[in-house]
Amino acid sequence: MKRYAQIVGWGKYVPSQVLTNDDLAKMVDTSDDWIRARTGIVERRIADPRETTSTMSIKAAQAALQVADVIPEQLDLIIVTTATPDYLFPATACLVQDALGARRAGAFDLLAGCSGFVYGLGVGSQLIISGAYENVLVIGAETLSRIMDWTDRNTCVLFGDGAGALLLQASDAPGGVLSFTLGADGSGGDLLMLPGGGSRHPASAETVAQGLHYARMNGREVFRFATRIMGQAAREALTAAGLKVDDIDLFIPHQANMRIIQSAAKHLGLPMDKVFVNVDRYGNTSCASIPIAFCEAIEEERIKPDDHLVLVSFGAGLTWAAAVVQWHVPLPAPRLSWWKRLLRRVRYRWAWLVSRLRRTYRKFNSWWGKAVGRIRGNNNG
Ligand code: ACO
Repeated sequence: MKRYAQIVGWGKYVPSQVLTNDDLAKMVDTSDDWIRARTGIVERRIADPRETTSTMSIKAAQAALQVADVIPEQLDLIIVTTATPDYLFPATACLVQDALGARRAGAFDLLAGCSGFVYGLGVGSQLIISGAYENVLVIGAETLSRIMDWTDRNTCVLFGDGAGALLLQASDAPGGVLSFTLGADGSGGDLLMLPGGGSRHPASAETVAQGLHYARMNGREVFRFATRIMGQAAREALTAAGLKVDDIDLFIPHQANMRIIQSAAKHLGLPMDKVFVNVDRYGNTSCASIPIAFCEAIEEERIKPDDHLVLVSFGAGLTWAAAVVQWHVPLPAPRLSWWKRLLRRVRYRWAWLVSRLRRTYRKFNSWWGKAVGRIRGNNNG
């Protein structure tokens, strides 16, 4: 029997701290008028010092699992798509796996600029359709505020922090992720990059002095690329699904800039009432932008069963990606009973305790191994 990868769970987390355009106008030479007119952004969320990509991912993941009434032990794979991982390694996905107590799951990070989430959806859905896995959690999360040069008005006004997660599950019912298209053009890599901290420019006092640890962007060129590629990628994914532009019920584009979104809609001949927009509230949250928008489209009752949704993104790399989803799950999702929610909280506490015990056991084991080695050495000597 044919298998499908349905989206059965969804969750988002955004930090509570709001940074408005007026706040930014006090930090750099800009204005609310300029930012609104050129980008459509009004405000964005900024992580507090205790929040990181993993902590936000964990909250979005827990929400997605709760919606689907799936427990972490049922997860086969966790993919965290991000350009701002907690560390270069270990993968942020492993931190999420540990915190959830998803002991059967594999975990890895996926880096494809802002297109990461749709790349992740493509990979995750194929692992389900192939029969390899039953439940795959795809997370998009960013703490872009940590790689911003807050004195550079060209970049710092555009970005924000947040996380979103979608849970893919195997199903016999037709629908779910119907098709996807992924693309890349590495010749444009220098248009949007974080030059420092990798093997080319390892972190040093010099790289910090040169500001190589901040994101750099040629906004005008990225803009030009984005307006060209968004409509093209959407059409490719539609063709792969055997659908036409008229079949789109809701278009959920990467939320980078209102003008880019409008241009993509125009290219496709789509009216704006079929386009989901929340860039005004969050700015560009890179990999988190599509899953956050997806969750808000559900909250705002913009999605109903059998709807065809088209997700499109572009980003650093340069990369682009689009996917077509046919919605299947009845909405609104039933709320879990209080005791099931309580049980979930207990599970996460338990996962925390098990993780601490494992760390302690490893330390003890290493200390014990050294102690035994020393005693043997003394006896032999
Ligand atoms: N406030 C006031 N003026 C500004 C600001 C600001 N925040 N930023 C730039 N300007 C100035 C520029 O210095 C320039 O001045 P100049 O003409 O004297 O040199 C002027 O405004 C116009 O600059 P442009 O670059 O032509 O402005 P544009 O209309 O292209 O808008 C923007 C700039 C918003 C950055 C746009 O190019 C854009 O959105 N590009 C795409 C960026 C993007 O989406 N990046 C994310 C990619 S996805 C990922 O992977 C993260």
